[in-house]
Amino acid sequence: MFRKRIGVFVCHCGSNIAGVVRIPEVIEYVKLLPNVVHSESLLYTCSEDGLTTIKKRIKELELNRVVVASCTPRTHEWLFRNTCEQAGLNRYLFEFVNIREHCSWIHRSMPDEVTEKAKELIKMGVAKAYFLEPQEEIEADVYPSVLVIGGGIAGMTAALSLANQNIAVHLVEQQNRLGGLMVNLNSFFPIDHDTHPIIEQVEKHPNITLHLGNEIQGISGFIGNFDIDLKAKSFKVGTIIVATGAKELKPFSHYRYGEMEGIMTQLELEGRLSVIGDRLSQTEHPTPNTVVMINCVGARVDERMYCSRFCCIWAMKNACLIKEHNPNANIYILHRDVMAYGTEFEKYYKQAREKGIRFIRYHPLKLPQVIGHQKVEAVKVYHELVGKEIELPANIVVLTTPLVPQDDAEQLSKLLKVPLGSEGFFLEAHLKLRPVEFSTDGIYLCGSCRYPADVPESITQAYAASAKASIPIINGKVKVEAITALANKSLCSGCGNCIKVCPFEVIEFKEKEVGQTFRFAKVNEIECKGCGLCVSVCPNGAMQQKGFTDTQLLAMIDALTEPNDINEPKILIFACNWCSYAGADLAGVSRIEMPTNCRIIRVMCSARVRAEFLLYALSKGIDGVMILGCHPGECHYSEGNYYTRRRGIMVKKILDFCGIEPERVQINWISASEGNKFAEIVKEMVEKIKPLTTTTEKPKIY
Ligand code: FES
Repeated sequence: MFRKRIGVFVCHCGSNIAGVVRIPEVIEYVKLLPNVVHSESLLYTCSEDGLTTIKKRIKELELNRVVVASCTPRTHEWLFRNTCEQAGLNRYLFEFVNIREHCSWIHRSMPDEVTEKAKELIKMGVAKAYFLEPQEEIEADVYPSVLVIGGGIAGMTAALSLANQNIAVHLVEQQNRLGGLMVNLNSFFPIDHDTHPIIEQVEKHPNITLHLGNEIQGISGFIGNFDIDLKAKSFKVGTIIVATGAKELKPFSHYRYGEMEGIMTQLELEGRLSVIGDRLSQTEHPTPNTVVMINCVGARVDERMYCSRFCCIWAMKNACLIKEHNPNANIYILHRDVMAYGTEFEKYYKQAREKGIRFIRYHPLKLPQVIGHQKVEAVKVYHELVGKEIELPANIVVLTTPLVPQDDAEQLSKLLKVPLGSEGFFLEAHLKLRPVEFSTDGIYLCGSCRYPADVPESITQAYAASAKASIPIINGKVKVEAITALANKSLCSGCGNCIKVCPFEVIEFKEKEVGQTFRFAKVNEIECKGCGLCVSVCPNGAMQQKGFTDTQLLAMIDALTEPNDINEPKILIFACNWCSYAGADLAGVSRIEMPTNCRIIRVMCSARVRAEFLLYALSKGIDGVMILGCHPGECHYSEGNYYTRRRGIMVKKILDFCGIEPERVQINWISASEGNKFAEIVKEMVEKIKPLTTTTEKPKIY
C-alpha cells in the first residue's frame, strides 16, 4: 500500500506561540507520531522563508501529506494550500492546526498545560491528515452576464460599473422607475447632489437591459450558470448582485403618528419640504418654535436593537434645508446620541449648530410627548441638563425612523438560498473576511439590503460588489472548492434522507441496474455548498463530505481519546467554520484567558456533526461534547443549525435513557463577534463537567 509520509511544520509565530508553548518539546513529541517522517519548527511559517522551506521539504523528503500548526485556517489556509500545490502536492493533502488563537493566546499563563494541548491538537491534525485524499476542483463555464436586483443607487451604480466594463447586465426593479428611495430626497448630505444623471446613464447604456415593474419569480443554478425567471421572461446569468435596499419605518404606535395633523417621518418631510419651508415663512404661523424632530424613533429598542447610523445626519440635513427656506424658523432636534462620524459629518453637525438648530438630548426612559388634539401643538421633553421637563411649542413634529428590511426580503432570500440576519437584512458571508459576498458563490450584495447605508456607502459597496461579480465573468471559468458532498452509489440504499434535507436541492435520485433497478443519490457537485447536512443523515455512510469525511473526523476523535498525561476533564468542541469557529478565533485575538480543557474540531456547518460522533466521543472517554453553531436564523447554509438543535435534544434524551448525565452534551450559538461569549461558554462547560468526572464513572455507551 502507498505509504503516507506526513511532514509537520510548527510555527513559532515570533513569540506569539513560542513565548508560551515549549516548541522543542512539541517537535520531539510530533516526531514519534505514526506516519510522521519529518517535523520542524519555523520562526514564521507564512513568511517567504517559511513557505520556501515547506516547498523544499515536500520535494526532498517526498512528503505526501503536510500539516502546519500555526494560526487560524480562516485566514491562512489558502496560502499553505497554494504552497503545497507549488511543490507539486495536491492542495487538498494539507491540514491546518490552530495552536495560536485556540491555544497559546488563550492560555498564556499555563505553559505546561498549553504545551500538552498543542501536542494533542497536532496529533488530531496528523490523524486527519493520514486520511486526506487528493481532490480536484470542478471547473465550469461562466455565462457572461450579471443580474442586478434593485434599481436604487446601489443597484444602478453596480450595473453601470459592470456595463462600463463591457459586461451585459440585467437590472430588475419592482417599481416602474429607477432610483429607489433616493428619488424622494431633495438633496444628499454633506453636499447637494443631483441624483438624476445616473438614472439617465443607466437608462441609456447599451449593455444594460432594464426590467422595470418586474419581479424575480425563480432562481436556480450555481455560480457561472444561474437561470432567472421573471414574469413572462427568463434568461441566464453568471453572477448576481442583490441591491434591493430597505424602506423607512412607518412609526405607527409611536408619538401619535397617524393620529393628528402635523406629524410626519423624515421621508414624508422630504416630499413636502418646500411647501413647509414656505409656510413657515408666512405670518399665519408667527411662532418661531415650529419644528421639533425626534430621533431614534423605533430604533435601538427591544424589537429593533440596531442604529440606522445616518438618520441623525438626515435630520440635520432636513433641518438645514428648512432653515434655508426660512432662516427665522426655530428647529429642535431631540436625540439620544448624535451619530456624526467622520470629518465631513462632524463638520455638518457643527454647521447645523451654527445655523441655530438646537439639539436636546432625551433619555430613553423619559421619552418626549407630543401634545395636541387634531393638530400638533407642542412637544414636552425632559431636558437632562436643565433637570426638568420643558415644553416646546410646535406646528410640525418630524419623526426620524430607521431603515428596515424590505417586505419581500425573506421571499427573495429563499429564492436565492442566502441567509437573512436576525434583523431581517441580508447576511454576508463574513463581515470582515468576505464583505459584500454571500456564502453562496457567485451572489453578492450591496447597499441598504445589507444594513442601512447612506448614499456614499451604498456607492462604495456597489463598486466592491460589482468588482467581485465581474471576476468570474472575466475569467470565463469558475472552480468549486472541493469540500462538496459525494455519494457512493454502491453503499446508497436510496432512502432519500439526503434529498429531503439538502437546503440547496442539489441531490437527486438516479437509477442503477443490478439484476433489478435500484435508485441512488447523486449530488450536483457544482451546486453543492458543502454544509455536510446530507452526510450526517445518511444511515449507510454512503454520503461523505470531501475534507470532512466520517473517517477523518472519527480519526481526530480517536487521537483525542488516546491516553496521555493530562488529568483534567477533556471537552471536545465541534465548531462551524462561519460563526462559532470565528468566535473562538476572536477570543484568541482578544487574548481572553480560559481553561485548557477544550479541543476544537472545525466543520463547515454544525449540521455536519452526526449524533453518533457525540455518543462515540463520550463512549471513548471524552468527558463532555459541545456543538457550536451560528445563531438560529443565521446559519450560513440557511437552516443547518435547526437540525443541530434537534439532534442535540435527541442525544440528550438518549443519554438520559442510558443513565448518563445529559449535561455532558451542550449545543450553543456563537457569532463571529462573540469571543467573550465563547470564553464564557467554555468556562461554564468546564465547571459543569468537573464534578461529573470526579463523582461518577466514565460514561459507558455500547
Ligand atoms: Fe454555522 Fe450552519 S454554518 S451553524
